[in-house]
Amino acid sequence: MSALSRREWLRNTGLGIGASVALPGLLPAAEMARVLGGGVSYADMLAQLERDVTTARRAAGPIRLSFNENPFGMSPKAKDALMNSWGQHTWYMPPIREEIRRTFAQHVGVPVDHVLVTQGSSEVLGILALAYGMEGGEIVAPWPTFEDLPRWGETLRAKVHRVPLDHNLDHDLYTMDAKIGGSTKLVFVCNPNNPTSNLADDRALRDFVTTVSKRTPVIVDEAYFDFVDVPGHKSMVDLVLKGESIIVSRTASKIHGLAGLRCGFAVARPDIIAKLSQYVTGDPNVFGLHAANASLQDIEYQTFVKQKNAEGRTMLLDTLKKLGKKAAPSQTNFVFFQSGKPVEQLQKHFLAKGFQIGRAFPPYLDWCRVSIGTPEEMRQFVAELPAALA
Ligand SMILES: Cc1ncc(COP(=O)(O)O)c(C=O)c1O
Repeated sequence: MSALSRREWLRNTGLGIGASVALPGLLPAAEMARVLGGGVSYADMLAQLERDVTTARRAAGPIRLSFNENPFGMSPKAKDALMNSWGQHTWYMPPIREEIRRTFAQHVGVPVDHVLVTQGSSEVLGILALAYGMEGGEIVAPWPTFEDLPRWGETLRAKVHRVPLDHNLDHDLYTMDAKIGGSTKLVFVCNPNNPTSNLADDRALRDFVTTVSKRTPVIVDEAYFDFVDVPGHKSMVDLVLKGESIIVSRTASKIHGLAGLRCGFAVARPDIIAKLSQYVTGDPNVFGLHAANASLQDIEYQTFVKQKNAEGRTMLLDTLKKLGKKAAPSQTNFVFFQSGKPVEQLQKHFLAKGFQIGRAFPPYLDWCRVSIGTPEEMRQFVAELPAALA
């Protein structure tokens, strides 16, 4: 593909916008280096991305602070990898399928046979429900949480025990444990949890997962692991390596900004991976695999996104504190706070100001979930908060 047509392609498809001016920050790294001129570092490119991305997002409609997406999109190096894989879309079994398995295994420190690559981490949850939660079985999950596994369970006519979060918005591990019986096929935990954004107490969750997995498989959803800022915080992947019946799910949708390209991962014992493999419904697409493979190795980009997310998150949490609003201690790319108003009212207010925010999460009907945008977007958003919450 020529440089010009690549530029056109990106202009029309990058971040889903049809920006009428070329925004260098949205280009792949190789192209950006050419446009910005010699001697440009990767840090310069990321700074350019930050300068351009809000303009592009504004041009696309209301700023999306609703689905916990990465406002910066995919890394410039991931765009390079995607563009360079052009042509492989005609292949079955592209070599990247095994390559990304190796990259991810290395990334989380497990042997390759402990990894399954899926169409987003939602597919991990779906195939777990298929593999373990079939008719007559029971599933235990906190509530509210990410809904896919409970929903899949109910579709498959499993009985789902939704255990309300405790008064700190934490998993009520004691009650969850009490709900586990002879028919329980699967226990779900989500850490950090969505929609609440908080991280479970590490010791308590580890003890719970270790003990419970001796009775029934436990799925630990770590979609937001990459945003956690607690020093020394560890994934539960090490428990998988101890041979427990634990499945950890991770995703390329969040810090890697690839939600639309559908790439996720399960980490589990090889026998569990083999069982889950029997239920996959298709293969992830080749562009997503190339982009995710490059992004997993692009540590500078992950650090950049994490820092910018922390910047925007602090801005929002500080403003809420000044306004006297209660918020969960977020360790994710979103914040959950008690606005004191029906969320529909806030959604309407913010839409009129050009922002789309999260929906209601019963029973927390006067709470609101706001995904973190770029620092510039968050500056604009927090300036609106006093009027919105008055
Ligand atoms: C906790 C959690 N798990 C899983 C997912 C699914 O992500 P994906 O299927 O894009 O990997 C999400 C998406 O928002 C989520 O919040």
